[in-house]
Amino acid sequence: MNRLGRVVFIGAGPGAADLITLRGAARLRQADVVLFDALTDPALRELAPQALWVDVGKRGFCDATGQATIDALLVRYASSHACVVRLKGGDPSVFGRLEEELQALSRAGIACEVVPGVTAALAAAADTQRPLTRRGIGRSLSLTTAMTQEGRLHAGRHADTEVFYMASRQLGALGRRLRAAGWPADTPTSVVSRAGWPDSLASQHPLQGLGQAALLHAGRPTVVTVGAGALPCAMPAALPDGVAAAPQMGAESAAPDHPAATAPQGAA
Ligand SMILES: C[S@@+](CC[C@H](N)C(=O)[O-])C[C@H]1O[C@@H](n2cnc3c(N)ncnc32)[C@H](O)[C@@H]1O
Repeated sequence: MNRLGRVVFIGAGPGAADLITLRGAARLRQADVVLFDALTDPALRELAPQALWVDVGKRGFCDATGQATIDALLVRYASSHACVVRLKGGDPSVFGRLEEELQALSRAGIACEVVPGVTAALAAAADTQRPLTRRGIGRSLSLTTAMTQEGRLHAGRHADTEVFYMASRQLGALGRRLRAAGWPADTPTSVVSRAGWPDSLASQHPLQGLGQAALLHAGRPTVVTVGAGALPCAMPAALPDGVAAAPQMGAESAAPDHPAATAPQGAA
């Protein structure tokens, strides 16, 4: 009989605990051990008070717990507990080092399941009410990490809408790279930090003014949406009497000297 436990990777979503999926919450309730990331909501502990919670959080390039250590911990806990949950911010398959952890578990013969979550790009689009795809002008979407493994900034032009992760410390440089890659200076960009949280912040800038977002979002997890998906939704020219128009987010933000900073819809 196989006495090894199993590991469930759960995408916790980008922010507040209620953004986890129903399946994710159900699996979390069964956990004996939870290895969790820095960007997951502490309120999720209420779903599994019986479990041993182990902080393996990594933020940016301060590698609090090395990847090899996390791999080893997963194998060790799954060798002595029936259900080990690996709780990751956003979606486990998006810049989540899922491949390394699956490989380590596979080598040890440990069964795995992956439960998807809401990635930060989607939460940012929801917060700003700026859809990532648009009929006619936004037919492709790319999710890009701005930093290479060696810590170098990397950016190009691959899709109508591009969302950059892990770029918050280099917004000015990212803007310059994108212009060099062929994006026009007046390309709309939308910067959202702590998307999905009650204190989410959003600002809009033409590409040439992207660096101005740095101070506002400093020290917060941030995504940068560039191109079609950063445009505000066009509002109907006239609405029937008695029908209120929804607020238009950051529509006035085209002037580079006056980037619009807003608490997104629904934020407390
Ligand atoms: C290691 S990646 C993990 C991404 C995660 N797996 C996901 O699907 O969202 C961490 C980066 O995700 C982005 N990020 C994570 N949570 C965020 C949030 N709530 N708001 C904005 N960006 C976020 C930031 O760019 C951060 O540097």
